[in-house]
Parts: sequence; structure tokens; C-alpha cells
Amino acid sequence: MRKILVTGGAGFIGSNFIIYWLKKYPGDFIVNLDKLTYAGNKDNLKEVENNPNYRFVKGDIADGKLVESLMEGIDYVVHFAAESHVDRSIIEPALFIRTNVLGTQVLLEAALKHKIKKFHYISTDEVFGSLALDQQDKFSENTPYNPRSPYAASKAACDHLVRAYNYTYGFPITISNCSNNFGPFQHPEKLIPLAITNILENKEVPVYGDGLNVRDWLFVEDHCRAIDLILESGKIGETYCVGGLTEEINNLQIVKKIIRILKKDESIIRMVKDRPGHDRKYAIDWSKIHQELGWQPINGFDVWLEKTVFWYKENQWWWSKLKSGQFKKYYEEQYPDL
Ligand code: NAD
Ligand code: DAU
Repeated sequence: MRKILVTGGAGFIGSNFIIYWLKKYPGDFIVNLDKLTYAGNKDNLKEVENNPNYRFVKGDIADGKLVESLMEGIDYVVHFAAESHVDRSIIEPALFIRTNVLGTQVLLEAALKHKIKKFHYISTDEVFGSLALDQQDKFSENTPYNPRSPYAASKAACDHLVRAYNYTYGFPITISNCSNNFGPFQHPEKLIPLAITNILENKEVPVYGDGLNVRDWLFVEDHCRAIDLILESGKIGETYCVGGLTEEINNLQIVKKIIRILKKDESIIRMVKDRPGHDRKYAIDWSKIHQELGWQPINGFDVWLEKTVFWYKENQWWWSKLKSGQFKKYYEEQYPDL
């Protein structure tokens, strides 16, 4: 039995990962350390909450004492916990530095002390900056760092810290830099779930700027399989870029696809003020993980998008709670034109 400490496992990707892992490796034990910020949600984990091989601990990754006590007997750490929303990092950058940078250092220190076998850090393609729309290049493991939002800068700092622990102390790390995930249990502050749920509620869908920004979309289950392969067979000290099977598709086209799936009218789209410093385009070259570990996405974007839209349609109980209360206030401030 392997014992894995997952951080941020009540968030979007972390909860999908825990469900995936316990299904595939029922003999392993997972400890989930999560602070349950606005983005953490125990509803995501109903499927595993009574599993004897799963333990939830509410706490902060920056709490050194707690983290030390949890590291005892751990084989792997899979570190997802972070403040993850770019728009919120523009409003409150200090929180992103505290959680993402300081929190990661606290985890690294405790993991080093306890000589764990592998520390996998979940990073982002945003550390590489922005591509121009007409640029054919893609981000790869060799792309120089050029983060442009406080969120991206905090993640870049973590990538450097994680690698520094490997170079300096010989600590066994791997890193993955992945593109925009989508799928079940994603908070409705992010573009795809916001668009789906607003349309289901007959509310306008805010699209920033001219709507031509491009992201590289990765279905969350494909991402979980990539992490699995890296944990099982990835080389210590290495970084792997993980992306989706998307043709170049811009935000406006995505929203229009969702509108078509839900058989609504495009008049529901509302062009709003652009995000400050809005990165124009991300595109990922995932040939390294494909060639070395045999990973590739299972389906193309349209198949996964339809599956995602239906999940939100079927699970209104899950997201309607998230769109009330605290989120309403954030939404009104973030989208004053709506
Ligand atoms: P999320 O915002 O949905 O979840 C983050 C989780 O971390 C929440 O459960 C939250 O409660 C927890 N958390 C926050 N601060 C904490 C703290 N101080 N201590 C303990 N737990 C804390 O994020 P996500 O979309 O699931 O992203 C997970 C990771 O993947 C993040 O590191 C993010 O930077 C990275 N990532 C995300 C995407 C994406 O498209 N969602 C893409 C690339 C990389
Ligand atoms: O690329 C990986 C990153 O993807 C992750 O590291 C981040 O954690 C994750 O949040 C995501 O960042 P983005 O900023 O790309 O995701 P978001 O869903 O916020 O926005 C996607 C695109 O849609 C982006 O171009 C901004 C735009 N957008 C977003 C929102 C919330 C809109 O046009 N309207 C909106 O209301």
C-alpha cells in the first residue's frame, strides 16, 4: 500500500484526481489536506468520503506543524493546493504569494525532512507567458519563463523552488505544466462552467475584450491520467508539459459551442471589459510526455465539452450553492456591466 498526501484535494482537479486514483489503485491510501477556501468543496468527494483508504484533513499547507505531522509515513506528495484564479490574483496578489509560494516551501521542507519518495508539483502553462495569435510556436519544457499575472508569477516561483530542492538537496521531484482544464466539479468562476451555468440560468455570459483569446483545453480526466503516468514512470527532476487535443479555438467560439449544445440563442453573449494583462494565447507541445510515457488525450475537445455541459445540466444541486452567497458579491464586483 502506498500512502499519498494530496494537497488541495477538495478543489476541481484535486478531487477528480482522488476519485480517479482510488478507483484505479484501491489498495492505496490518500490523505487529503485542504483548507476549504471558497474553492474547496467537500461535495466533490462524496464518492470517496466513506472509503476507509481516504482521510480528509482540514488545514493550511502553510501551517508547518500540521504539515510535518501529516508527512509521517507518506510515500508520495501530489501538490495541487493553490489560489488558482487569475482574476482574483489581480484583486488580491498577496494571498497568492502566501498560499502558493510560502505554502509550497513549507511542504517541500517537511517532505525533504521525511525523505518522501516523490513530490509531484502541479504547475501551469501560464508560467511561459503569452503567444501572439499568429504565432505557430507552442510552449514546451524548454520555453523560457515569462509569467505576466500575479497568479502566473506565484506559480513560476514555485517551479523554481521545487527544482531548487532537487538540485540543492537531491530531493526527488517531478513537475507538470498543464493547460486549461475543464470538466466536472470546476468552480463556476472559470470560463467554461461560468458560461454553462449562466446559460442554464438564462443569464448573460461575459466574454472579455474581443473574445479572440485562445487557450489549450485539457479534459480533467486526461490530466489525471498524465499525473498517474508521471508518478509511476516519470523521471526524477523532470518537467512534463500536458495539453489538450484542441484545434486553435477562441473564447467566443467556445461560448458559441456551449450555446449550440444547450440550444440557446447567441444574444446571451455579453462582451465586457478586458482582463488587465490578458494573455492572448496558450498552446502546448506535449510531445515529451507522449514519447516518453505514452500519454495522449482520449478524446477531442467537442466530445469532452458535450460531456461537461451535460454534467452541469444534471448537477445543478452542486453548482447552484456555489453561485449564491460569497460568490454573488465577487461576481457583482468583477462584472459591473452585467
Ligand atoms: P481550485 O481553485 O479548484 O482548488 C484549489 C484547492 O486548494 C481548493 O480546494 C482550496 O480549498 C485549496 N487551498 C487553497 N489554499 C489552500 C491552503 N493554504 N492550504 C490548503 N489548501 C488550500 O484549483 P484547481 O483548478 O483544481 O487547480 C489545482 C492546481 O492545478 C493549482 O495548483 C493550479 O495552479 C493548477 N492548475 C490548474 C489549471 C486549471 O485549468 N484549473 C491548469 C493548470 C494548473
Ligand atoms: O492555463 C492554465 C490556467 O488556466 C490555470 O493555471 C489557471 O489556474 C486556470 O484558472 C486557467 O486560467 P485562465 O485565466 O486561462 O482561465 P479562465 O477560465 O479564468 O479564463 C479562460 C479564458 O476565458 C481567458 O482568456 C479569460 C476568458 N474569460 C474568463 C472569464 C472568467 C472570459 O472571457 N470571461 C470570463 O468571465
